[in-house]
Amino acid sequence: MDIAVIGSNMVDLITYTNQLPKAGETLEAPDFAIGCGGKGANQAVAAAKMGGRVIMVSKVGDDLFAPNTVANLQQQGVDTRFVTTAPGTSSGVAPIFVDDQSQNRILIIKGANQQLKPADVDAAAGALKSCQLMILQLEIPLETVYYAIDFARQHDIRVILNPAPAVADLDIAYACKCDFFMPNETELEILTGMPVGSDEEIKRAGQTLLKRGLKNLIITMGARGSLWMSGDSVHQVAPTAVKAVDTSGAGDAFIGCFAQMLVKTGDIATAMTQASAYAACSVTGRGTQRAYPDADTFQRFLNLN
Ligand code: RIB
Ligand code: NA
Repeated sequence: MDIAVIGSNMVDLITYTNQLPKAGETLEAPDFAIGCGGKGANQAVAAAKMGGRVIMVSKVGDDLFAPNTVANLQQQGVDTRFVTTAPGTSSGVAPIFVDDQSQNRILIIKGANQQLKPADVDAAAGALKSCQLMILQLEIPLETVYYAIDFARQHDIRVILNPAPAVADLDIAYACKCDFFMPNETELEILTGMPVGSDEEIKRAGQTLLKRGLKNLIITMGARGSLWMSGDSVHQVAPTAVKAVDTSGAGDAFIGCFAQMLVKTGDIATAMTQASAYAACSVTGRGTQRAYPDADTFQRFLNLN
């Protein structure tokens, strides 16, 4: 295996609506879809769809969602040997609301993901040691994230940390141990307490993190593209213009594709360009993982855009 994702899986319960009910109110929404999600699983699946050899360490609940989650990961080619059951818990679920501007609002109930512990990293150690790259997010206990970072450092595995969803008290010392720190602009705002309304403001906020010792900061900015900052250098990737239908999971598509392209080409700028287009392609379809193209479909998208 080349890429290890130690992270979450969720069942996405997506309601398409422009209006949310007030207390005591019943409203009808036009449409609904269920899909496999969770930031960890999304990133694992994006990398695998792009041809990556991916292993995932994750926890499912002991409910009716769990077998489907595992079967889906396997269908996408993700190694699930270390996707285990947390007895007595619900699987992670994410009620998502998407409006006709394609904006998403996501609630997460972590469920079994809360039970992913350092011992689960240890249990997978043999398989993890041979990976080149590890991807982490924040839908599992922070203790496990920090443990995995130290594990990766000990075994010379490069680390991508996606600080999502944002937690204001993330230990920046741990972020600095990672090779890539990849927030979106909202997460950057929460982490720095600084405004992120314009490219200039985003760069200023990014600089404060770099001054604290981050190696590579890659900020995904949705329809505004992405930014890679390292030392004094800034590399901006313009967005691919598309008609967005559902932006849920676009950041995860970016990170999964970036990881696989980094493994394949070894070049950060190339990986970013590909990841940016891959994320753009993902927003043209409804849902999260189900909207991620495989390598052939992505190639056709590139030919047309
Ligand atoms: O980043 C999008 C993901 O966030 C969704 O798939 C949902 O499950 C939440 O984890
Ligand atoms: Na989508």
